[in-house]
Amino acid sequence: SIPMKIGYIEAEGIVADVNLDDCNSCGLCVKNCPFSAIQMVDDKPDVIKALCKGCGLCAADCPKDCVAIVHYSDEQIMAQVVAALKDKPAEKIIAFACHWCALGGVDMAGVSRLQYPPNVRIIRVMCAARVATKFVLRAFELGTAGVMVAGCEFPTCHYITGNYQAEKRMERAKKALVNRGYDPNKLWMVWLSAADGPRFAGIVRDMVKKLSLG
Ligand code: FES
Repeated sequence: SIPMKIGYIEAEGIVADVNLDDCNSCGLCVKNCPFSAIQMVDDKPDVIKALCKGCGLCAADCPKDCVAIVHYSDEQIMAQVVAALKDKPAEKIIAFACHWCALGGVDMAGVSRLQYPPNVRIIRVMCAARVATKFVLRAFELGTAGVMVAGCEFPTCHYITGNYQAEKRMERAKKALVNRGYDPNKLWMVWLSAADGPRFAGIVRDMVKKLSLG
């Protein structure tokens, strides 16, 4: 299909880029990369660009925010969160959707004109593993009604284990929400197949009802 073709071409240029200025050599990026695309050289991470697929897992985990993903930097994603919540944030649901299965489901919902409420603002990421806890926290700070993180159904993630890592991270994000006084039940994790348009639409309708938005 055309969307997949575009995604494939785009995906070619998406790679991680480490800024070593603030790097403390913790090695998390090396340890977590599903493609072994980062190695330590002289105690500093070095991205082997030919192996990097740009999933963004390393960037989301980096405690020093040293990793930029081309086209999906922290600043670029954060700017989308801010823009989506500029107007009436309490009526909006931020949905981070992975480019592969989740967005397939979302597109299908759109293409087949399944009705889902207009409260949702989709923010595309290559993999659910790109969604850093700080994006979720920022959305809540800005007054969002709720957040959805949508990725590929288990066990299939286009980046091997990204969905598993995303799930673990979002469990931690829920704790971080509790610590800050937010309701952790307003963070949804949704795992979809590319044929899940109707399911996606149903989940959104359900969220809207639970959040009393509709
Ligand atoms: Fe969909 Fe990783 S690509 S969750």
